[in-house]
This record gives sequence, C-alpha cells and structure tokens, in this order.
Amino acid sequence: MTGISGFEGLEDRTPRGIAAVLARAIRAGELGPGDRLPTVREVAGDLGVSPATVSAAWQALRRTGLVLSRGRAGTFVRETPRPWLSPRQQQLSGPGRHGLRLDLSRGTPDPALLPPLGPALERVSARAGTWAYQDEPVLPALREVLTATWPHRAEAVTVVDGATDGVARTLEQLVSYGDRVVLESPGFPPFFDLVEALGGEVVPVALDAAGVRPASLARALESRPVAVVLQPRAHNPTGVSMTPARAEELAGVLQRQRRRGLELPWVLEDDHSGAISAAPDVTLGAFVPERVVHLRSFSKSHGPDLRIAALGGPALLVDRIVARRMLGPGWTSRMLQTILLDLLSQARSMDEVAEARRQYFGRQQALVTALGDLGVPVATPDGINLWLPVTDEREALLHLAAVGIRVAGGSAFLAADAEMDGDHVRVTSGLVTPDHAPEVAAALAGVARARLPGRGD
Ligand SMILES: Cc1ncc(COP(=O)(O)O)c(C=O)c1O
Repeated sequence: MTGISGFEGLEDRTPRGIAAVLARAIRAGELGPGDRLPTVREVAGDLGVSPATVSAAWQALRRTGLVLSRGRAGTFVRETPRPWLSPRQQQLSGPGRHGLRLDLSRGTPDPALLPPLGPALERVSARAGTWAYQDEPVLPALREVLTATWPHRAEAVTVVDGATDGVARTLEQLVSYGDRVVLESPGFPPFFDLVEALGGEVVPVALDAAGVRPASLARALESRPVAVVLQPRAHNPTGVSMTPARAEELAGVLQRQRRRGLELPWVLEDDHSGAISAAPDVTLGAFVPERVVHLRSFSKSHGPDLRIAALGGPALLVDRIVARRMLGPGWTSRMLQTILLDLLSQARSMDEVAEARRQYFGRQQALVTALGDLGVPVATPDGINLWLPVTDEREALLHLAAVGIRVAGGSAFLAADAEMDGDHVRVTSGLVTPDHAPEVAAALAGVARARLPGRGD
C-alpha cells in the first residue's frame, strides 16, 4: 500500500488523474519536501493500472517542478518547488541548503569580482534620454565599441537580453518542428530544454581538450541540422576553450559540406564568459562569416542581472531577429546599454574586469594544483567551472553535501541519448579562493574517479 489517501476510490486512473492526486498530496503536506514518492510498481499495484501509466504521471509531475528524479534512488518531492524553471534547471537545483557552507553548484560569478555599478549608475541618471519607438535599438556609441572588439567582421551587431536570450531568439527564427539542432554534450542544460520547447531534435556532439571534435561534427552534419550551437570559450561545464586551429578545422568540416552541394547549418557561438575567459577570442566567423552568429555575454564579467549581451552576424538574420523583437519588448533598455557602455569604456571598470579574469585563472590553478597533489589529475579549466569525473554522481553529491559543499550533478548537462563517459559533477571552482583550495580539493578528491595510485589519501 502506498498510503496516499487520494488513491482510495480514485475514479480517474489516467496519468493526469494520478498526477493530480500526488500534486494535491504534496500541496496538502501529506508528502513533504525531500520525501520519496512510492515506487511506480507500488502505485501500479495499488490502482490496478500499468506501470507505464504511473510513469507517465511521474513524468508529468517532473515537468511541473513538484518532484525530481534521482535515477535509481527514486522520485522525490522537491525541497522548494520552482515551477518557473525548465526541467533541466530544476534537476540542477539540488537538495536543500541545510548545513551548506559552500554553494559551488550554480555556475555564477563571484559577486566580489564584478565591477561596482555605482559610478556608471550615477552617470546614467544624468544621461538617460527620451527615445521614440522607431529609433535605432542600439546606442551608436555602444555599437562602435562592440564592433571595434568583435572577433570577426560581422555585418550587423545588436544588443539582446543575455546570451541565452540571443540563442533563443536566433533559434526561434531557424527551427521548425522536427528540425535538428546540434548541441554540445556535455553542454548548457537550458539549451536542451530550449530545442525541445521549439519542437526540434537534439543531435549531440562531443568535445575534447581543443573544442568540438571535428569527426563528431562531421557525423552530426549527416543529419542535416539547421543549426549548431557551440561555446567557443570557457565551455560550461568542461572549461574547454576552442583553439584557433580547431576553429579552422571545424570551419573546414562545414566547407566540405558546401562542396558536396549541401546547405550549411547556421552556427551560433555562445561566448558566455567573454571578458573573464583566459583564452583568446575565437570564432568560426573568421572562415564562414555568412553562416555565423556570434554572441558575447557580459553576465560573467559585468553581472548576470544586467541581462545584456551583444549578437553579431549576417544582416539577413540579425535584422529578422531585431524586427521580431520590435513586436515584443522592442529593445534592450538604453539605460542598461548606457551602463554597459560606461563599464566597457571607463579605465577603472576595465581594470576591475581584467583583475577578475586574473583572479579566476589563479583560483582555477590553485584548485587544480591542490587536486594534483592529492593524486587527482585535471587540466586547468578556463572560466568558472570544473568538470570532475566521479565514481558515482549521486554518492558524490551526498558525500559533498555531508561536508557542507554543494555541486551540480553532471547528468543534467548531457543530451538524452548521448554516449556516457562515466559520471561527473560540475564544480563552480571560480568561487573557491586559493586559501580554501586545499580543503575543497580534499573533499573533491574523496569522490573523484581518477586517482593516481599511491598518491594522496
Ligand atoms: C553556456 C552558457 N550560456 C549562457 C549562459 C548565460 O548567459 P546570459 O546570462 O548572458 O544569458 C551561461 C551561464 O551560465 C552559460 O553557461
């Protein structure tokens, strides 16, 4: 018996009816945060329905954010239901904050390393103007700064509300139901949900230490995708930055496609960590500018809540994105654009961002060195994350939580049917200062998969 009161005499034994009973039990407190749901088999037995019906009900509950699956361990009531998050984002926000000392699960920058906004805010208050709805959506002075630092000659550059917004708006223009979209796996979890929400089909590609693997891209292109989304630098979660040689090789793979008379997919480059990346700017736009949309976010370097990124590429596509946006929000507030322009052109904030880049690099090196001393070899990642191979994802999360450290489980970063390269966790290592590195490394070494024999303990 499952002990769920609403199951007694239940008439609607469809997935919807079963999910509704569970949802009511959760809201009424009959099942509390962190409680495990009865097993599919138990409920199926209780109600005399097929396990597939119960599975479908559980799936519906997961989509609402009320519960989350922890693989073989079962399905659990979420600690704090957050229905505004996409399924993978919900999967990422792990168990409660009880006893938490160090939250390294979120992939966000260190607030202490963001440039203070005070001076820019003061100046914007003096400069904010009145604009007509028909005016050019990008401040000319900001466009000038962006164009001067763009990694290739983009025909058109505009400003959007973050890199994720830019990827979403571009894919909305490109993807129709059933179209294929190439995504990196592991990769940024919301992109998998986004492609699914657009009715597209994800085609995963694998990476190595230099970026997306050319053979993997070549194979993916056989499925005739409409778009390829990749992260040129500080790849989340692996910390890989594409080398210039790899960018050229990948462009070669695309060009071979063209020589076969096939249309090239669009390439969307999500340079989400921009100015805090330790690697040089890199883009396929240097080779196939007519098919590349490059995005540069200012979230990691200047602040995620600024919600601002620049998007550049062929006018044909950029103008369509701008025109479609004119029918909704219109443009990114010029006040925000003025703040960004200020932060990109004042010596002080430019120095602060450069210092943040150095700090992140130093933190990554300190943690990697400490891990190496404990017999756990990992390459120094670029950006603010570290992708750690672990023996078992769930055990690693529990073990680290027991010492007050929260990291993100790796499975949310994988395409549904991608080849598994063992379990991982993503550690937002950019938040670990060098004085904490030995302690955090010791905890991580306790769950790491690869340990050199005879070293550390
Ligand atoms: C790969 C990737 N893209 C985009 C973002 C978010 O960028 P934005 O805040 O500009 O939307 C992140 C943030 O972690 C990210 O890791």
